[in-house]
Order: sequence, then structure tokens, then C-alpha cells
Amino acid sequence: MKKIGIGADGAATQLKGTLIEYLEEAGYEVEDYGSEAEGVDYPDVAVEVAEAVASGEHDRAILCCGTGLGMSITANKVPGVRAAQCHDVYSAERARKSNNAQVLTMGARVIGPELAKTVVGAWLESEFAGGGSAPKVAKIEEIDRRYNGAIR
Ligand code: RB5
Repeated sequence: MKKIGIGADGAATQLKGTLIEYLEEAGYEVEDYGSEAEGVDYPDVAVEVAEAVASGEHDRAILCCGTGLGMSITANKVPGVRAAQCHDVYSAERARKSNNAQVLTMGARVIGPELAKTVVGAWLESEFAGGGSAPKVAKIEEIDRRYNGAIR
């Protein structure tokens, strides 16, 4: 697996640090995009990380804000990116197996650090199942092309 991109806004700086520590201890390489500076807006971080995923620099990335919603909404604007907000293990697994989501988003005001680590672990260990899910993800890509132009 390539380096995992990770970013956060000011609301999730602490969660980002917790996850970086967890990921590095688990043997993953991590590229930290999040600025610790106060007042960083989530769309700025989300678009930078999502573009890095779309360009193939990362095959997985994690984005954290207060709710995970702003990061998800923004990252999904970048063609080719499928970002999923997950706060439970089942959703995290399905985000990979069914949706082939390359980006996981979480909210530091929603989830505690221990569950967040478990969710990240489940998401990283799960792979796209293909099969019946493949034509559905292909339809998402087709919609992406229709509205956003070519997927890189
Ligand atoms: C920042 O206050 C908050 O809006 C942001 O972290 C995120 O929750 C937005 O979706």
C-alpha cells in the first residue's frame, strides 16, 4: 500500500494525531496534510488530499473534521474520489467492499479515539469485493464523468 494521506481541520487536530500514531505503530506510512494552525478550513484540506488521491499519489486517505461531513462533501467533488463518512466498523467495511471508497472521513466531535482507531483498522483491512458491486461503482464513475469530465 502507498503512503496513507491524512488531513484534518482545527476541530480534529487531536484525532488526526491519535490516528497517525496508531497507523505508524501498525506499520503504515503516513503523509500528514493537516495544518495544526487555528482556522484551517476543511474544504482547503479536503481538496488537497482528495486531489492527491485522484492523481494516484495515495490509494487511501483519511480526513477528519468536527463531523466528517464537510470533509466528505468536499472530497466527493473531486472527480474519481469516493469518500465515505464512517463511525462504525460495519460501515467502514462496506465502504471498502461495496463502494470502493478510497477516502474515509470521521468527525472528532462524533467518535471517540478508540473506536476511531478500530474503524480505521477495519477500513484499511477491507478490500473492494468486486462482483455485484463492480457495476454499481462503475455507474458512480459514469455519473462522475457526466458531471465532472474525465476521471484521471
Ligand atoms: C468546524 O467548526 C466544523 O464545521 C467542521 O469541523 C466540520 O464539522 C464540518 O463539516
